[in-house]
Amino acid sequence: MVTRVATVAFEGIEARAVDVQVQIIPGSVVFTVVGLPDKAVAESRERVRGALIASGLALPAKRITVNLAPADLPKEGSHYDLPIALGVMAAIGAIPVDALGGYCVLGELALDGSITGVNGVLPAAIAAAARGLGLICPASTGPEAAWAGGDLDVLAPRSLIQLANHFKGSQVMARPEPSIAGPAGPLPDLADIKGQEGSKRALEIAAAGSHNLLMNGPPGSGKSMLAARLPSILPPLDPRELLDISMVQSVAGELRGGALSNRRPFRQPHHSASMAALVGGGLGARPGEVSLAHGGVLFLDELPEFAPQVLDGLRQPMETGAVMIARANHRVTYPARFQLVAAMNPCRCGQGLEPGYACRRGPNERCMAQYQARISGPLLDRIDLRIEVPAVTAADLILPSPAEGSREAAGRVATARALQSTRYAGRGLPAATTNATCPANLIEEVASPDADGTALIRQAAETMRLSARGFHRTLRVARTLADLDGEPQVRRLHLAEALSYRGRGDGTAAAA
Ligand SMILES: Nc1ncnc2c1ncn2[C@@H]1O[C@H](COP(=O)(O)OP(=O)(O)O)[C@@H](O)[C@H]1O
Ligand SMILES: [Mg+2]
Repeated sequence: MVTRVATVAFEGIEARAVDVQVQIIPGSVVFTVVGLPDKAVAESRERVRGALIASGLALPAKRITVNLAPADLPKEGSHYDLPIALGVMAAIGAIPVDALGGYCVLGELALDGSITGVNGVLPAAIAAAARGLGLICPASTGPEAAWAGGDLDVLAPRSLIQLANHFKGSQVMARPEPSIAGPAGPLPDLADIKGQEGSKRALEIAAAGSHNLLMNGPPGSGKSMLAARLPSILPPLDPRELLDISMVQSVAGELRGGALSNRRPFRQPHHSASMAALVGGGLGARPGEVSLAHGGVLFLDELPEFAPQVLDGLRQPMETGAVMIARANHRVTYPARFQLVAAMNPCRCGQGLEPGYACRRGPNERCMAQYQARISGPLLDRIDLRIEVPAVTAADLILPSPAEGSREAAGRVATARALQSTRYAGRGLPAATTNATCPANLIEEVASPDADGTALIRQAAETMRLSARGFHRTLRVARTLADLDGEPQVRRLHLAEALSYRGRGDGTAAAA
């Protein structure tokens, strides 16, 4: 006789259905697992054997074969322990055979029979709900599974014995409650920044339209400080985005204690990051920083110090909002719709723009051009806002703190984002679409300027030699500026301000 237990295999954040089939027949005493298992799955035999013995169940002295079907889907990870153990327990009559029929099961076993946490419980729970099943998962991940919906039957046992008692009816388990991680202290506030009104305005525009932002300025001008204050003005997550973002974090094992976080991700990898760390891949095709920043911000400080190939690896996810990682035997896709915020010094010595400064490495211009050429033109081309952050003067620093802080800016950002959500949802695009991610043909329509504005952009196209991408980028930013003003029509002053954020980077892009 064959007992069957439903479980999942992860392909990116997709949980594919896998069937664990357990057969116990007379014959030589062996325990085999077949069906394209990786090393962690093959080792699962030892953990299952140990956990069953610790729970007072000896394996029968027979031939035990476990098949993970479909056999052509690669099985990775340690979450197959629990479905295998439950299949064996049902086969030897330790739990009723029909008890498992309505559940999808995942969990890792310790040798003492306790059930330890695994990654990916949230996507597994959502897949189980879609298949009309309940979910059995480790106790520590129960709160995560409970997010998949009030109808989902979730069992989150601490040990095999607790689960066996539940099925016997002697100790019934309660359904876990969904939980949200409380704030880990207040976020740094914009009110800490003195002066820098222009840079703060650009940061607010970036937050309002989810535009990519590049800050260029001498060391100590407050670029890192500005970026660290972006999370405090980003719009709140809607429930759909919350689940979307948490799916990636669940697969990456970033959800602590099964609680989802209601803050947008803010990732700041060091500039020594490898391609696998930034884009994803490596052992187990793990999601990279671009995917962990999905729905939030990827902050690259000291942008030119990143390896040029690694930076160019960002181009494809920035274009498509997803990253595909090809492995030897399969491919996985992770979502990666992030907002890029980058900071850089104007040159290696950092003082290139300082009046009267003479660089030891030749003319300032050459030193700057060499440094900036490390960022490829196509990457720069995808950055809507490029600003120069001037050095703060001592006169600015002795001023009292500004009256306005993150709260006021966040309010304006949230209003502008709400306008965008309704506009794009009304046109059949997902509610999460922003001015920065709206398709080019649509932005021409929704950001078409008034007569004065059209005259200005025509003039700019000639004098500033605006490329097709540059034209769309200007329209996107202008649309966000109009949204911040609460105006349905893009006007000349919005376009003029948008044109001012094109930075001197365009010339660099052509040179690169
Ligand atoms: N506008 C400002 N208001 C207050 N403090 C500032 C300002 N700009 C810079 N600072 C101070 O200078 C320090 C260095 O800023 P930082 O953001 O690290 O500079 P950068 O990244 O541009 O090199 C900050 O930690 C802060 O103490
Ligand atoms: Mg810095």
